[in-house]
Amino acid sequence: MKVSIIGGSGFTGGELLRILATHPNVEIKMVTSRRYVGDYVHRVHPNLRGILDIQFTNPSTSKIAEESDVVFLCTPVGVSANIAPEFLESGVKVVDLSPDFRLKNPGEYERWYGWKHPRPELLEKAVYGLPELHREEIRKADLVACPGCMSTAAILAMAPLAKTGFIKQSIVVDAMIGSSGAGATPSLASIHAERYGVIRPYKPIGHRHTSEIEQELSLLAGEDVKVAFSASSVNIVRGILVVCHCFTEKTVTVRDLWKIYRQFYGNEPFIRLVRDVRGIFRYPDPKLTVGSNFCDVGFEFDPHTNRIVALAAIDNLVKGAVGNAVQSLNIIYGLDEKTGLMYPGIHPV
Ligand SMILES: NC(=O)c1ccc[n+]([C@@H]2O[C@H](COP(=O)([O-])OP(=O)(O)OC[C@H]3O[C@@H](n4cnc5c(N)ncnc54)[C@H](OP(=O)(O)O)[C@@H]3O)[C@@H](O)[C@H]2O)c1
Repeated sequence: MKVSIIGGSGFTGGELLRILATHPNVEIKMVTSRRYVGDYVHRVHPNLRGILDIQFTNPSTSKIAEESDVVFLCTPVGVSANIAPEFLESGVKVVDLSPDFRLKNPGEYERWYGWKHPRPELLEKAVYGLPELHREEIRKADLVACPGCMSTAAILAMAPLAKTGFIKQSIVVDAMIGSSGAGATPSLASIHAERYGVIRPYKPIGHRHTSEIEQELSLLAGEDVKVAFSASSVNIVRGILVVCHCFTEKTVTVRDLWKIYRQFYGNEPFIRLVRDVRGIFRYPDPKLTVGSNFCDVGFEFDPHTNRIVALAAIDNLVKGAVGNAVQSLNIIYGLDEKTGLMYPGIHPV
């Protein structure tokens, strides 16, 4: 497949280049950056020195459409909605990493993003790019909307419970995320003096990812699910841990939970169930997912409060972003969906 990347100088763009560089079925045609036009990609992503000999170009949609079968959009909110239609009209498949096509209801963009969607008719056409939930739709998709990073972790932690009727009305999701989640554009909050050492609750309420988590869990539950979502920045570069709390009236044991999660995930190649009784890594820990496309999912039952605790850990730049994008690409083209993605995490890191 001939692929191009718009927004290749950012964190997800760099990570996508790292993964596609060794993908056996992919030829990287064009990589754009307005700031670094003419520079070799290793000037911005030094880990790719000696791996990729390609220069950044301007984001010219017509030239990219001529050269590519698929385009990945690694751009901030609001950009893809305006450029994706041109690619789709030219017969180029679009894999969008931004939030622009994730939500089915255009009103949700106004509510959560304060933004009126310019092409609401495309929202029905877009497929939510989480292979564990939408594999068959992705196979036929022209427009894939990759999930948000914290949404990926929260949905994968809770999906088996939603499907088996454990979620009644609302759940609580507490998410912790590393600094790369904010992208490569510097801000006061991201400078070392202010970011180092934090456990900073930056969105205890009102986070935009709430809407897509509610959308996907409601679909699974077959009724409206409300998500009480809080996000905090923590002192790591890559990684997300979500701790979800679901209060239940049913009596449940850890053995039941094993059964529910095993049945739901079956042989999913990138889901690992982690609930050990020995060692120091008894529950999912983002440290063990760094650089990999795995989502580690765990669970516990608290009889004191009749609460199921569901946990998930991912690398926000891989399973939380470009891993879902490449997994979707593999599915669309009928490849083994693990192609180019089967790296273990790094340990110790
Ligand atoms: N970081 C994560 O963990 C993560 C995870 C999942 C999803 N996402 C989503 O993925 C998208 C990219 O995130 P990121 O972290 O990679 O952001 P980033 O590091 O800030 O990179 C953004 C990229 O977009 C390009 N860009 C900005 N405005 C543009 C425009 N108008 N036209 C063309 N290119 C433009 C920038 O390049 P130039 O300015 O040089 O052109 C840059 O390469 C965002 O929508 C984000 O929400 C991020």
